Amino acid sequence: MPDLNKIKTDPDYLSNVQYQNSGNLSSRIQLHQRFSTGQQNWYEFVLELARIKAGMKVLELGCGSCALWRGSYVRLPESASFFLTDLSCGMALEGHLALASDKRFAHLTMNSMDIAFADGSFDLVIANHMLYHVPSVAHVLAEARRVMKPGALFIAATNGPEHMRDLDLLLGKFSKRLNGKHGMESAFNLMNGEKQLREVFTTIELHLYTSDLWVTDANLLTNYAFSTPLVVENLGNEGRPEMRAFFQRRIDRFGGIRIRKETGVYLARVE
Ligand SMILES: C[S@@+](CC[C@H](N)C(=O)[O-])C[C@H]1O[C@@H](n2cnc3c(N)ncnc32)[C@H](O)[C@@H]1O
Repeated sequence: MPDLNKIKTDPDYLSNVQYQNSGNLSSRIQLHQRFSTGQQNWYEFVLELARIKAGMKVLELGCGSCALWRGSYVRLPESASFFLTDLSCGMALEGHLALASDKRFAHLTMNSMDIAFADGSFDLVIANHMLYHVPSVAHVLAEARRVMKPGALFIAATNGPEHMRDLDLLLGKFSKRLNGKHGMESAFNLMNGEKQLREVFTTIELHLYTSDLWVTDANLLTNYAFSTPLVVENLGNEGRPEMRAFFQRRIDRFGGIRIRKETGVYLARVE
């Protein structure tokens, strides 16, 4: 079995296994979109903080399947341009197919360790739930700053160390092989993120996203669990029906499964 700590930042594993296509990511996004208790959708929360205006040039690092843009592109200014990039060519291709008819969006397979744009190119750089995957956070932050115009905004979203701990506890009850954390955010999270950003940026604000999960579908929760390295690397594809039944028993007994979240967005600039 691979070392679960190492694979979270291993470009080969990330682009060829975990994010070879949008399957795993979609299972996780689907759970959050269906069962979040918050008033505002996560991607709308991020875009509201981004305050994208006419003429802005925007770079997204690790865009995945472009979920940030799919629901809101009609409301974005006509004259803004968006460069959406991801390490995985499967992901970059799916994002391209989803937004292909909109000429404001360009798609690129790119490792954020080596940003293929000139110094001072962008008004906004976004790293939404991806900095914890890069081999060196410090290096990617320096690269992001390099391609930012003076006064530009950097947005980094991530989770806290307690994010979805309730699910970790349930998984540990389901199987001793699943003792540990299913999340992958340890290298850049809400505990250590600000310290890392301070090395590069001078002004940093944290905006917490207030929402939990109240899950009433055992199947979607099982899909979520099997999208994570903790579960799939320990169980392979075995145990799906048993896990589904385990979650279903709790849903039948309590009406749902409560999973607390800990998620937020850093806004960072050089002033
Ligand atoms: C958790 S997903 C987030 C996707 C998207 N930002 C979202 O929030 O829906 C992390 C993404 O980062 C990408 N990624 C991982 N390491 C990367 C790197 N070194 N450079 C660029 N993208 C990377 C993965 O391929 C994956 O699509």
